[in-house]
Amino acid sequence: MSVEVESPLRGSVERPLRVAIVGAGPSGFYAAASLVGRRDLRVEVTLLDRLPTPYGLVRGGVAPDHGKIKRVERVYARTAGHERVRYLGNVHVGQDLPVGELHTRFDAVIYATGAEHGKAMGIPGEDLEGVHSAAEFVFWYNGHPDYTDRVYALDEADRAVVVGNGNVAVDVARVLCRSTAELAETDMPAHALARLERSTLSEVLMLGRRGPAQAAFTPKEARELGQLVGVDVVVDPEEMVRDPATAAWLASGADVREAQKNLTVLDDLAARSRDDTARSLRMAFRVSPIAFEGQDGRLTHVVLRRNVLRFRDGRVRPEATEETWRLPTQFAFTAIGYRSSPIPGVPFRDDWGVIPNQGGRVWDRDRDEPVDGLYVVGWAKRGPSGLIGTNKADSIATVNHLIEDLAGKSGAALEGGDLADVVRAHGGRPVSWGEWERLDAEEQRRGREAGKPREKLVDVGEMLAFLDAP
Ligand SMILES: Cc1cc2nc3c(=O)[nH]c(=O)nc-3n(C[C@H](O)[C@H](O)[C@H](O)COP(=O)(O)OP(=O)(O)OC[C@H]3O[C@@H](n4cnc5c(N)ncnc54)[C@H](O)[C@@H]3O)c2cc1C
Ligand SMILES: NC(=O)c1ccc[n+]([C@@H]2O[C@H](COP(=O)([O-])OP(=O)(O)OC[C@H]3O[C@@H](n4cnc5c(N)ncnc54)[C@H](OP(=O)(O)O)[C@@H]3O)[C@@H](O)[C@H]2O)c1
Repeated sequence: MSVEVESPLRGSVERPLRVAIVGAGPSGFYAAASLVGRRDLRVEVTLLDRLPTPYGLVRGGVAPDHGKIKRVERVYARTAGHERVRYLGNVHVGQDLPVGELHTRFDAVIYATGAEHGKAMGIPGEDLEGVHSAAEFVFWYNGHPDYTDRVYALDEADRAVVVGNGNVAVDVARVLCRSTAELAETDMPAHALARLERSTLSEVLMLGRRGPAQAAFTPKEARELGQLVGVDVVVDPEEMVRDPATAAWLASGADVREAQKNLTVLDDLAARSRDDTARSLRMAFRVSPIAFEGQDGRLTHVVLRRNVLRFRDGRVRPEATEETWRLPTQFAFTAIGYRSSPIPGVPFRDDWGVIPNQGGRVWDRDRDEPVDGLYVVGWAKRGPSGLIGTNKADSIATVNHLIEDLAGKSGAALEGGDLADVVRAHGGRPVSWGEWERLDAEEQRRGREAGKPREKLVDVGEMLAFLDAP
């Protein structure tokens, strides 16, 4: 007579639910906190990142002069310190470690890999030297190891255009305009400071394809532009006249509270008198670049087209006119949004640039069903929008689905062994949380010497050499 032995249920003390989270940015940390915070379940989390350093865009995206926002890292550090959370940095999943190694060792894998690449405009001349994705420029001035070798020859330029009217465009325009004396007090790394110090830019021009009322930036960030020292923010009062489409939209009953606040800020800026001695930050609206032109492979002009706005189906859209003109410029930074890149072995929706999902359950679109054990959070889930805090509720929503699917049910036996050993077997060198804390302390020590919050280590080889030094 055979006796059936019931296997313990997933999420019990005898059989903890084992979850790998790929990506240690905000959404990954919020998912981890939500999982180990469950009082009714025992969950063990392994949090991986392709960089030795954690925090995703909080470290590599948030502007250096917005140091207060980076304090959220303390909340994430508390999560990392939880006894059932383990951090393994310097593990590029899908590249250094095949995804299959995770899928056999964990009950679930949550992808929290963000959206690292700037969207392309798809217009002629985008490959000219001098035309850059804002995404890469931001990573460069924030010391992301993949981008520190970029050269932005700002010492040979008098104008830069920034395409887009979102908060990233505002960040880039502000960093290009701000004095390096101010930036030197931030955590901006030395290589970027040195370049910006030599900048000869006299004008930064932000281009919005729609009007001031449709700008995607937030009022707080717009207000900050007006407070920049030594920067003349120029908005042509004529740009602020409400066109018929905008007037119809404002009166339509749509939620226009943020737009109204932006209009108040921009009306104030437009009413200011000019200060011609300063570096100027000019904001132009209803204008689209249609080509970049150059000489000897270098950008010399941007060709611009005037748009008119039309109000249709509750939305204000830009419509091309025949009016075009050429504007000399040596730099163009395109800040028109981000896209995720595919991870080998994980479904990807190329047209939307996200991991296909329903409520965070990764979705097999051919079979129209969820993929067992795969989940997604943050920008990789919903696309590149939302503030840091937006990711919290979004991660909790995915975690709730994961718990609903897996907890309290028996599951297949998982492969054992230490994941760090598996990473090493693939030739990798994982970085533990304790090692990150040593890097963090070293950055802060170097920062104190330089009179700034931290001097970032920007080279992975240098980080590992520091950690491995006797
Ligand atoms: C330039 C910029 C500035 C911003 N400033 C602000 C701000 O001031 N305030 C605010 O509230 N919001 C700001 N945001 C928005 C905020 O940063 C995002 O909402 C948030 O970072 C998204 O979190 P995420 O975890 O989805 O992605 P990310 O923060 O991008 O984290 C993704 C992580 O995954 C890792 N990763 C990627 N692929 C792999 C892989 N294959 N294997 C292992 N790891 C991988 C990455 O290294 C990264 O650490 C800013 C965004 C940008 C682009
Ligand atoms: N300080 C902060 O809090 C901060 C800083 C940075 C980023 N963030 C957040 O991070 C998220 C991403 O920011 P983001 O600036 O990358 O994106 P975003 O807010 O979506 O803005 C993108 C901008 O690009 C424009 N655009 C898109 N395609 C274009 C094209 N082909 N030609 C010209 N313009 C085009 C959009 O115009 P349309 O509106 O006409 O499409 C919009 O103005 C946002 O949620 C943002 O708030 C926050």
